[in-house]
Amino acid sequence: MIRVTFIGAEGNSREARANAGDRLLEVAQNDGQPLEGTCEGQMACSTCHVLISAEDFARLPPASEEEEDMLDLAIGAGKTSRLACQIILTPELDGLTVRMPPGHRDMQGR
Ligand code: FES
Repeated sequence: MIRVTFIGAEGNSREARANAGDRLLEVAQNDGQPLEGTCEGQMACSTCHVLISAEDFARLPPASEEEEDMLDLAIGAGKTSRLACQIILTPELDGLTVRMPPGHRDMQGR
């Protein structure tokens, strides 16, 4: 089992549990996090953008060039931004802390 801590844009944190092989996007959605994931992992939308905690960022496999390109377009992107649809959880990632980007909901017009 892999534990993932989600921190909402307002700073509220929740711990979710996932299995190896789960995609971070689905784990977040199942936990009720506001990630749309509109393109379902095709790297065409960036609505699954999240910020990884600085300590955890280095534990993730590096982003592909396509992912980097999408992140350039993501709202509120920072140095530790990733697309949640591109992150497959492995036991090594246990304890990952993932923050929702600030203003996520507002910028979606909701
Ligand atoms: S779901 Fe569209 S880029 Fe991740």
